[in-house]
Amino acid sequence: MKFYIETVGCQMNALDSELAAAALISNGWERLATRKDADLVIFNTCSVREHAEEKIYSALGRLKHWKTQKPGSLIAVMGCMAQKDKGVVFQRAPYVDIVVGPGRLDQLVELVNLAIATGEPQLAVSLDRFQRRDMPRETRESFRQFDPIRLPETRPRVFQAMVRIMFGCDKFCSYCVVPSARGPEQCRPPRDILEEVKTLADQGCLEITLLGQTVNSYRYVEDGKTTRLAELLEMIDRVPGIRRVRFVSSYPTDMTDELLAAVRDLPTSTPYLHVPAQHGDNGVLQRMRRRYSVEEYKELVDRIYETIPGAAITSDFIVGFCGETEEEFQRTIDLVRYARFKNSFIFKYSERPGNEASKRYADDVPEEVKKRRNNELLAVQNEISAELNRRFLGETVEILVEGPSKREARSVAQEETLYAECETQEDASPTRDADNFTSLDALVSTGSSSNTQLTGRTPCDRIVVFNGSTTLTGTFQRVRITDTAPFTLFGELAD
Ligand code: 5AD
Ligand code: SF4
Repeated sequence: MKFYIETVGCQMNALDSELAAAALISNGWERLATRKDADLVIFNTCSVREHAEEKIYSALGRLKHWKTQKPGSLIAVMGCMAQKDKGVVFQRAPYVDIVVGPGRLDQLVELVNLAIATGEPQLAVSLDRFQRRDMPRETRESFRQFDPIRLPETRPRVFQAMVRIMFGCDKFCSYCVVPSARGPEQCRPPRDILEEVKTLADQGCLEITLLGQTVNSYRYVEDGKTTRLAELLEMIDRVPGIRRVRFVSSYPTDMTDELLAAVRDLPTSTPYLHVPAQHGDNGVLQRMRRRYSVEEYKELVDRIYETIPGAAITSDFIVGFCGETEEEFQRTIDLVRYARFKNSFIFKYSERPGNEASKRYADDVPEEVKKRRNNELLAVQNEISAELNRRFLGETVEILVEGPSKREARSVAQEETLYAECETQEDASPTRDADNFTSLDALVSTGSSSNTQLTGRTPCDRIVVFNGSTTLTGTFQRVRITDTAPFTLFGELAD
């Protein structure tokens, strides 16, 4: 039996797809790079914006025909939309066989087997999480942790891996679906994380990305001892073979001095921090229920630049949030200019029924205004990105070579790894399975040509494009930068 997974959304989804694939492969399934010959097609979905959901429903619509031509084939929907829409998925797409929420991924193989055996639709989702506090025990327990089986072949690149250190989110920003879709914050025990990192290192992994919705809030108490992210980084730093560690996404108020010092001092920690600000106006931040002021965010930016030499900060912003005035929007521009982000992911506000913002405020900024503000903010950010990149001209940087570049150098807008489904970088989605397979295929088909266009990343997460042999993939190289663009550095091998 063969399966194909299509993934949209954040890195958490990319990791879930990897783990789901590992579970199926361990049970005798074969993974395909396209859906054509698949017996099971899985959609790993995102609910953060309506646009992402609509795209999934139209993709499901297109699959109806495929399914009628292929009797016995199965369609599964996993991810945040599965949790949010539950049985509604079956109503909107009655030919779907399996709906499984992120807190029930441990049941995927069982559900697939049941669907095959009974021919009946299978649904496994967590209980609804309405309250912010005093959550009943059964609700918490309905969001189960998924013990990962790490198979190197499920990763786009064997030498890079994501490791989840916590599930869920307790911040309840008013616009966000994540706390209900992914459930309460649950931190994994340090010993499990360390075991997983050691397994990955044994598999040849050089670079680890620690994942959590608010990754720097990580806190695990055991036998009276508290482990926080700084300690975790120290523990991982000692694992032989691991050369680079980074973590996403950070919540601004949880960025302690100890953590910044760890990032500065540990040889494996990299000076790259993704700390979504979301907005530059205090009134909007309050309506968004973010727990900091713009002044506090700026103070954090100062602290990061003072502590970590060469730090690159990236951010997310929402434009056109409920009631956002032109003056409020301009304050976001001011913040972007102040913070000098390496880059920002900019999203137009999308109302999500049921959450606090949808209940309390009207989604009253017209679409054209959202679009205009999105473009305006993007233009300011691009200018800053270009300027920061120009400083690398003539410098030599150390990069981890990721493999052949997917596009011709000048058109590499951004080989994005954070969100595979975002408004502004819609076609830059290497975490989609098809792309990953394409890059693996390219590796095989181009052999060891010495003049292939390769990409790699600097410790501060900048993409570098240069010519070299594909055999350099998965090695560290020094590259001298000869040209720059807003999202890409161009160079030549220094040694
Ligand atoms: N509308 C638009 N953008 C959103 N995000 C989260 N919820 C919404 C929403 N309802 C953005 C935030 C977050 C990123 C993952 O997606 O910027 O950091
Ligand atoms: Fe959503 Fe806010 Fe949690 Fe991020 S911190 S996942 S934006 S609720």
